[in-house]
Amino acid sequence: MTDVLTMLGIESSCDDTAAAVVRRIDGQANILSSIVVGQNELHSAYGGVVPEIAARAHAEQLDIAVERALLDAGVNLTDIDAIAVTAGPGLIGGVVSGVMCAKGIATGIGKPLIGINHLVGHALTPRMTDSIKYPYLMLLVSGGHCQFLAVLSETNFRRIGGTIDDAPGEAFDKTAKLLGLGYPGGPLVEKAALGGDALRFKLPRPLLDRPNCDMSFSGLKTALRRARDLLIEKQGGITEQDRNDLCASFQMAVADTLAEKTRRAMVAFQNISKTKSFAVAGGVAANSLIGEKLRAIAQREGFSFFSPPLKYCTDNAAMIAWAGIEQYDKGARDDMTLAARPRWPIDQTAKPMLGSGKKGAKA
Ligand code: KG4
Ligand code: ZN
Repeated sequence: MTDVLTMLGIESSCDDTAAAVVRRIDGQANILSSIVVGQNELHSAYGGVVPEIAARAHAEQLDIAVERALLDAGVNLTDIDAIAVTAGPGLIGGVVSGVMCAKGIATGIGKPLIGINHLVGHALTPRMTDSIKYPYLMLLVSGGHCQFLAVLSETNFRRIGGTIDDAPGEAFDKTAKLLGLGYPGGPLVEKAALGGDALRFKLPRPLLDRPNCDMSFSGLKTALRRARDLLIEKQGGITEQDRNDLCASFQMAVADTLAEKTRRAMVAFQNISKTKSFAVAGGVAANSLIGEKLRAIAQREGFSFFSPPLKYCTDNAAMIAWAGIEQYDKGARDDMTLAARPRWPIDQTAKPMLGSGKKGAKA
């Protein structure tokens, strides 16, 4: 008999309002629809996400996104077996909006509700897109997250290391702001770096002197500001070439740091499992230099490399629906007491990390 499960996913933990329908047929994921309504234009003037603005936009957009996801998928609410919703970690106003919306739909159609950890959604994405087998090593690297995870099952994750302050995407965004580029900063810094000299400014490779896989990016941003201020002091301003060189030097420092820490995470992972699969997810994975460096390290260390299509690497609801499918199988069910959680560590045994950041969600 064919095993079919159809899940509606809802995601609203940061600045994307997303809804998706994913149907698993005999173990294979079929992404029937994935709607992502971004909010960049609402936040760009501030150079980062403004939580209250984000929450209001989610409240306005959620039902529209769900309607569009159903329409695109060609299904009715009656075809849905269960609803998976991001219940944290993230900006609390947005998470609450999503959870309330999901509760309403679950009650209305009398179907189960499953609260999903947003980071679990990212971590299981390569299973949805590439059918990767457990266990595998994962690097989540975005505006709000930066951690290495050993993904052992749909509910068992071991944190091997992560940022102790800013996430790299956040550092890219702050760099863009310091240099008068727009938001989100990552793609703009990458573009400027194309015309720049990565060797001109000697920026630090933070925490490489420590043997573990932890990272830090806030000092790098401070070093960049200092380099910019020195130029302004000397020349009265910065030229376009200065800006490009600063971007290239910054990008190279992030890429070098991520690559070396990834190599160390691969060594550490071998103490947990002898399998050699490595996947990367998160908006920063869109960066060509970083992607190339990670691919090269994987090749050198004998790991197969998985980098899901960007639209499923960045925040989306298909990954939440898929995590819902995997956890539904294991009996996960929530009820109307499901609470939104601003913080929710994916590895409950790991020591909490310091750091706040724009998302307030470095669990
Ligand atoms: O995964 P994502 O869409 O959202 C979360 O943060 O969860 O990632 C967005 C982040 C932003 O900080 C953005 O600047 C960064 O990813 N980003 C990039 C690039 N494209 C997006 N960073 C570096 N290079 C890029 N090409
Ligand atoms: Zn995310």
